[in-house]
Amino acid sequence: MHVNRRAFLKSSLASGIAISSPFSYRLADANPALSPFSSPLRLPPLLQGRSEKNTRVFDLTLRQGLSNFLGNVQTATVGINSDFLGPVIRVNRGDNVRLNVSNQLFEPTTLHWHGLNLPAAMDGGPHQIIPPGESWSPEFRILQPASTQWYHSHMIHRTGIQVYYGLAGLFYIDDTDSKALNLPSEYGVDDIPLILQDRSFNRDGSFRYLSSMHDRMSGVMGSVMLVNGTSLPVFKVGRRLTRFRILNGSNARIYNLEFGDKRPFLQIASDGGLLETPARLNSIILAPGERAEILVEFSDRENVMLQHKPLPRRPQTQGGMMGMMQNMMTAGDRPFAVIRFESDRALISSKPQFGQPINQQTWSVEEASKTRQLVLNMQMGMGMMRGGGFTINGRSMDMNRIDARVRLGDVEIWEIINQSPMPHPFHIHDTQFRILDRNGKPPAANEAGLKDTVLVNSRERVRIITRFENYADPASPYMFHCHNLEHEDAGMMGQFIVEA
Ligand code: C2O
Ligand code: CU
Ligand code: CU
Repeated sequence: MHVNRRAFLKSSLASGIAISSPFSYRLADANPALSPFSSPLRLPPLLQGRSEKNTRVFDLTLRQGLSNFLGNVQTATVGINSDFLGPVIRVNRGDNVRLNVSNQLFEPTTLHWHGLNLPAAMDGGPHQIIPPGESWSPEFRILQPASTQWYHSHMIHRTGIQVYYGLAGLFYIDDTDSKALNLPSEYGVDDIPLILQDRSFNRDGSFRYLSSMHDRMSGVMGSVMLVNGTSLPVFKVGRRLTRFRILNGSNARIYNLEFGDKRPFLQIASDGGLLETPARLNSIILAPGERAEILVEFSDRENVMLQHKPLPRRPQTQGGMMGMMQNMMTAGDRPFAVIRFESDRALISSKPQFGQPINQQTWSVEEASKTRQLVLNMQMGMGMMRGGGFTINGRSMDMNRIDARVRLGDVEIWEIINQSPMPHPFHIHDTQFRILDRNGKPPAANEAGLKDTVLVNSRERVRIITRFENYADPASPYMFHCHNLEHEDAGMMGQFIVEA
């Protein structure tokens, strides 16, 4: 049994395409007795690390596992210190951290610290490969403010499948400002991680990955929702203000989240940390790679769903083949439920005090030393059939080519122009930025804070501004790319260097 599982994983991971059958699993086929929204939400273990001479040390083992997403049916998965996904790594601003990453998989991988300001050689991008059986121990200092970051595989051409199988986890940073705000912060009680991922399954219970041409174009979208690796979960909340840290950890799906009763909530943080002005919302759009922290009030004996509603329809901007594709992309977008919340514990916490204003970094257009343009596009036809065809400024990713050189300490404006018929969540390593404008209009309140990933819709032009600071290295590049992982794997990625 053990040997078979290994052999299976080895072959499915090595071929790049999981064994597929024409029928994908439905939850009811797997186990008719399984009633939806009855499995308690899993909470990833919290890892605070151990202290070793002024350094906080974390041990992370990447390994294979078996998971039961569908009742009794087993799915071969991979995880970090676990069968699927990894622990929540928790650090403080100012900490020196060392992460001992041991690769016990049968293929090379990397582990990237998404959203972190850190030396390029510690970034865990495509250049920091960990061969099977080997370890990698990046070490760096946490300089940035409190925020919800994450980590995941960044193996060249293999990021999509490796993340799909489970190589991802959350990374929390705390600081004195965030602690002074008295926000709900009791892990698993009123401070809850929600890692949203959609997956499809074959009849034998195995993950179904990249099974069609449509998957290559739109990215892989699943038919079963997982939250923290739990399918159709329920979470029992207290009668209190609750904080959810939501990560869109999906390969390609963009969520438009709202509560079943349309109750308002407060977004208090985006990718890079707390918002200066929290945004009162009824729904929120999160693209792959993006995070949001929200506060929601529950009263006694409530029962409410968090659900996805179809994304707002965008005007068709292109005719012909591209226009048809644009329609196709949005056609399957139906409402579905994500997780049920039941309030039945009579816990009451003190209300948070939003006394202290948070001042995050900001940069003015006048400070910028240059504007770079990045044109996102896709070529139809043979290129895509072979798993390529996605470009930035007309070129696909090349690990031997540096696309941009940035001077340490410079403020730059990057203008991201999407000429393709699909949306692309654009992500930049090492830095948090501000959105200047989207087609000339200033960003919405909940997008006005620090970000490292921004959704650029078809035919949109988004300008961002940032300063590249703290770490320079002429030898190791950072990445910028589309965070639709199938697009990234198919070439929509480039490299930049920060030079002193
Ligand atoms: Cu979330 Cu280049 O990564
Ligand atoms: Cu990243
Ligand atoms: Cu994309």
